Amino acid sequence: MTGKRLLLLAGDGIGPEIAAELRRVVAWFVENRNLQVALEEDLVGGAAYDRHGTPLADSTLEKASGADAVLLGAVGGPKWDGVARHHRPEAGLLRLRKEMDLFANLRPAYCRPALQSSSSLKDDYIAGVDLMIVRELTGGVYFGEPRGVDRMPDGRRRGLDTQVYYDDEIERLLDVAFEIARSRRNKVTSVEKSNVMESGVLWRQVATEVGQRYPDVELDHMYSDNCAMQLVRAPTRFDVIATDNLFGDLLSDCAAMLTGSLGMLPSASLGARSEAGIRKALYEPVHGSAPDIAGKGVANPLAMILSFGMCLRYSLGLGAEAELLETAVDGLLSRGFRTADIAGPGDRAVSTSSMGDALIEELGDALERRE
Ligand code: IPM
Ligand code: MG
Repeated sequence: MTGKRLLLLAGDGIGPEIAAELRRVVAWFVENRNLQVALEEDLVGGAAYDRHGTPLADSTLEKASGADAVLLGAVGGPKWDGVARHHRPEAGLLRLRKEMDLFANLRPAYCRPALQSSSSLKDDYIAGVDLMIVRELTGGVYFGEPRGVDRMPDGRRRGLDTQVYYDDEIERLLDVAFEIARSRRNKVTSVEKSNVMESGVLWRQVATEVGQRYPDVELDHMYSDNCAMQLVRAPTRFDVIATDNLFGDLLSDCAAMLTGSLGMLPSASLGARSEAGIRKALYEPVHGSAPDIAGKGVANPLAMILSFGMCLRYSLGLGAEAELLETAVDGLLSRGFRTADIAGPGDRAVSTSSMGDALIEELGDALERRE
């Protein structure tokens, strides 16, 4: 493999703490697995706003677009609550997704056996949960125009957002979902609200059309409210869920909790494949910046680290290395290592850096067992 360029944007809140553990993991792969990457770093979100007066500097966007993959911690926090919307930390992340055209957001929810009892649902419901939410990430109500808060002639204030989807936006997202289903259990559930929303009617039509190109993959349709219910009622029925930006945001937080904690869930945001087969990509944990625990050294670094696992698999073509990392994570969990978010009654919660120590040790063990 020739050297790849990774850009690490630690961001705000617990971002820098989990990024510190990620750096150690990347260094381990460089040292022990001959991983050839250069890790560059920059600011995003509130940290960038404090330094540059914008949550995403143009120079950072340029570096991100030129990198083989971007690794992002988290953005946001109460410190920036009073800042104008377009300068809020979240606006930096949204601009990064939009400008890099990262339209397909993959959010796997996999219940690691050692964590079954950490879920807020009963063990029987979540044993065997292994699903993938494919969320549209650059369209819908997140970006639709017009939007804003204005004052009507009658004096009332009006808040306005626009949900809008074009057929090609839906089509390319569904294509990703079907392709992923082929590498899994061949089932796509397309989720919208076509009983109420026009964009949902189009979504269902396009999903059906795309589905005809994948006769080997089973397609079903579900309203988003029903999907929320089925996720907590019978989550093992799902393989791939394909849905829009806003529903995907909601449903992925819900799916995350099935697995024990939001602190465990990685994600990948992918762009279109170029002619050379390369696609822009950003990897980030599903959880946010968790300002309530930031700076205390108690955050769970595993979602960030598993996001790097997705980077190994999807951007660097190193599936076997990703498996090694996942095996090491399962290893430390089965040895009882727990940060506070996944600690059960009677478990002793360890710090962010102890979790990092345990992972480095497990990586060594996992490698020895494999060789
Ligand atoms: C997510 C987050 C973001 C989103 C925020 C931070 C803008 O909740 O990635 O799910 O709403 O997309
Ligand atoms: Mg969210």
